[in-house]
Amino acid sequence: MYYGGDYNPEQWPEHVWHDDVALMRRARVNLVTLGVFSWSSLRPAPGRWEFGWLDRVLDLLHDNGIQVNLATPTASPPPWFGRLHPDTLTVTADGARLTHGSRDTYCVSAPAYRDASRELASVLAERYGGHPALAMWHVHNEYGTWCHCDHVAGAFRRWLRARHGDLATLNERWTTAFWSQGYSDWEEIQPPRATQWLPNPSQALDFRRFLSDEMLAHFTEQRDLLRPTGRPVTTNFAFGSWVPVDHWKWAREVDLVAVDDYPTGDLAEESAFVADLARSWAGGKPWILMEQAAGVEYTPRRTLPRPPGDLARTTLIHVERGSIGAMFFQWRASRGGAEQWYHGMVPHAGPDTRTFREIAALGETLAALPPRPAPRPEVSVVWDDEAWWALQNRGLPSRDLDYLEAVKQPHRLLHRAGHHVAFVHPEHDLSPYRLVIVPSLLPISDAALANLAARRGAVLMSFFSAVTDEHLRVRLGGRLPAFGITIKEHRPLAEPLTLSDGTEASLWSEEIALEGAEAVVTYPDGSPALTRFGNTWYLSTRLTDKAYECLLTCLLRRSY
Ligand code: GAL
Repeated sequence: MYYGGDYNPEQWPEHVWHDDVALMRRARVNLVTLGVFSWSSLRPAPGRWEFGWLDRVLDLLHDNGIQVNLATPTASPPPWFGRLHPDTLTVTADGARLTHGSRDTYCVSAPAYRDASRELASVLAERYGGHPALAMWHVHNEYGTWCHCDHVAGAFRRWLRARHGDLATLNERWTTAFWSQGYSDWEEIQPPRATQWLPNPSQALDFRRFLSDEMLAHFTEQRDLLRPTGRPVTTNFAFGSWVPVDHWKWAREVDLVAVDDYPTGDLAEESAFVADLARSWAGGKPWILMEQAAGVEYTPRRTLPRPPGDLARTTLIHVERGSIGAMFFQWRASRGGAEQWYHGMVPHAGPDTRTFREIAALGETLAALPPRPAPRPEVSVVWDDEAWWALQNRGLPSRDLDYLEAVKQPHRLLHRAGHHVAFVHPEHDLSPYRLVIVPSLLPISDAALANLAARRGAVLMSFFSAVTDEHLRVRLGGRLPAFGITIKEHRPLAEPLTLSDGTEASLWSEEIALEGAEAVVTYPDGSPALTRFGNTWYLSTRLTDKAYECLLTCLLRRSY
């Protein structure tokens, strides 16, 4: 079991490093993520490399039995780099070119940035690839930066040519006949920069897909330079609505799936959600909790201390689900800089603090933990990053549609009821599960539709699913033969309604024509709200947690 966190010794005088390793040993830390943001320390000026400090840190850690997860520092180019290559600085959707002074200010499509990234990876591989402290490589940090510059425009067009083949197909798939958006030349196509009014939704979705592939190419270029060292290569996934990463695709390319977990609200439920996603993305490969906060919860307005024992509780949620380690951001809280108030395993007040005591106790607990069998979930929930992105488009019939909540609701209810949950891609093999839940899966490919239709076990699909193809073109007619129904109309709700079983429906409703299915629960006007067709169920509204839990219990007990 790996235990440790991001370690940033370049922020501290060297005598502190000796305190660090002594404290790490006390806390049973055995892995640190080193060098995530150390581009300017490694290469302070265009022609100058400074390896001495890193050589000494690696040796010191090794002498103390601590392994290293060595990062390529490409997530934060230094000021000199942006000055030398201004075309590598991020451009926002409204055309502003950002400047250095923060982090993540790069354009993943800029040739100079790509060259520099490859150079950093190969220099580190050559110098440290054989170091005995090296356990794994950590490429970059939390991929997710959007850029809209001309480099991106060129790369986007190349990606679109490969995806759509010719302009006529692209025009058709993007429905550019609407609002006179027809393209007559590839050069006319832009990344979704600021527009006068609603942008084209298919273009917006393709741009996220492109960014995911483009960043993945940046990752695999570095991975391929690092792999010959024989150590696994990973990158830490961030989880947020802005993150254009198709996790299923990326999980195939990393040697080890790594996730960061910064829960808010009900921390145990949130952590279980992220851990179940990570385990599912890994698909049997190892995975690791790469970052979490030490002893605090970051909420939008304030950082809250967590109650005693809470840190161990959420960590063990990950471990129970198969994480091969528990890592934090960061080892020692920084004295200054933009994240000086972010917590550390060693807080500003030092080791004589509740946080460090809990960290040290957790180190003991993890070291003594016997291996646990991997969970074997019977229920799966469909997770599709593309559906999340599609429900973030503007111009939808309701602003209250929330993909994440639609997915989280059944997950948290199953978690509360003590079930393990797997997430699946809609085109994956669904046969291992007794029940497959498909929440608000707006776009669906023909292959996914056929996959669901071929399923013999129970399926529960919820509202505003399978409404469009993968290009966001509506599947006309509204027929869902596998569910024995046709959706005639979508009717978002302004106010909750009471259903025939006395429970409350909110957010959304649909007019459903029964074509073989039976109505299990109805709206106040007697029309179907929840339908059943053999083993397939369709829920056209949002239920309260209580009612949804009751439905899930019945489906799992097969008692309907
Ligand atoms: C993560 C990030 C870290 C640090 C941390 C703060 O998302 O990867 O570098 O910023 O948040 O909690």
